[in-house]
Amino acid sequence: MKAKITLLPGDGIGPEVIAAAQKILEKIGEQFGHEFKMDSQHIGGIAIDETGGALPNPTLESCKKADAVLLGAVGGPKWDDPNASVRPEQGLLGLRKELGLFANLRPVQPHPELMGASPLKESYLEGVDMLILRELTGGIYFGQPSEKRINENGEEEAFDTMIYSESEVRRIAKLAFEIAGERSKKVTSVDKANVLESSRLWRKTVAKLSEEYPEIELENLLVDAATMHLLSRPRDFDVMVTMNLFGDIITDESSMLTGSMGNMPSAALGEDLNSFGKPRGMYEPIHGSAPDIAGQGIANPIGMILSTGMMLRHSLGLSEEAEAIEKAVDATLNAGHRTGDIAREGEVALGTDEMCEKILMNLV
Ligand code: IPM
Ligand code: MN
Repeated sequence: MKAKITLLPGDGIGPEVIAAAQKILEKIGEQFGHEFKMDSQHIGGIAIDETGGALPNPTLESCKKADAVLLGAVGGPKWDDPNASVRPEQGLLGLRKELGLFANLRPVQPHPELMGASPLKESYLEGVDMLILRELTGGIYFGQPSEKRINENGEEEAFDTMIYSESEVRRIAKLAFEIAGERSKKVTSVDKANVLESSRLWRKTVAKLSEEYPEIELENLLVDAATMHLLSRPRDFDVMVTMNLFGDIITDESSMLTGSMGNMPSAALGEDLNSFGKPRGMYEPIHGSAPDIAGQGIANPIGMILSTGMMLRHSLGLSEEAEAIEKAVDATLNAGHRTGDIAREGEVALGTDEMCEKILMNLV
């Protein structure tokens, strides 16, 4: 097959992990006889430096023409001035919105060999296999108005709006029920219905929809309790569905079940189809730009590489190739290779390129 992929390295460790994804794609292309035409574009802080905007037009155009998008990370201290008129994160949020990527799939699957790298006891982690489904184009991330102003006391104040419509809740919840039907038939919906009106609408809408899925068990959890249950009984969860802000927080928390944020991939999907009739998704590791280690060549490329696997599966329909990537990562971890974030005391920590080389070698 011939597929068009837009690469968005972005900031910090983004370019380092995108380089790993690119090598993996090249090797998959050779092995399976595919041609991946890659177009690299700026987003985030680097785009601000180059063009003044976080999501330049050529970037957006390239993504719209692509069959799928791979993104590294955006942001960093250089662009963190609270008074700045443009922020790197606007590039990423803008792209999610423009491409209509309302569903963010974040699988949490602790690798058996990495259980020692998690702060949680192994007995809690065995058998954990969940999918967190985060609503990605609504809620407080996009609600208007969102402003700062001077109040009547002459003091600065700021506010954001958390808003969900019934249809927005329904489409993400529908996906949750559909996916759960192919897994262990349980959906946990996370909200803050004891306090927030938007959460009460969320809960009511999910409950109504669940009547159409009698075979799927529905559990409702308040977000504060959910963060605790994620640590005390992670094995009980299968598909967890929640709104944009809570999903952002909960997925960072749950990444520690896998030992490190660096391990976790994600897929952002919408209704738009690409030239293969599959969703044109954007795929990115859940970690950020990690300015503390950027430029040192020590970032863990696994989250990015597994995101590339998700891209092959969901946007290009190449499940055999996706499995090959997952197996290569498995084999590399089974052989004891580690980057610094997942190495335990006494274990050698490989750099990004070395880790990628090991994975490439296991890609058969
Ligand atoms: C993520 C990130 C982004 C988010 C930031 C970089 C805007 O934390 O993808 O989880 O909050 O969605
Ligand atoms: Mn996040």
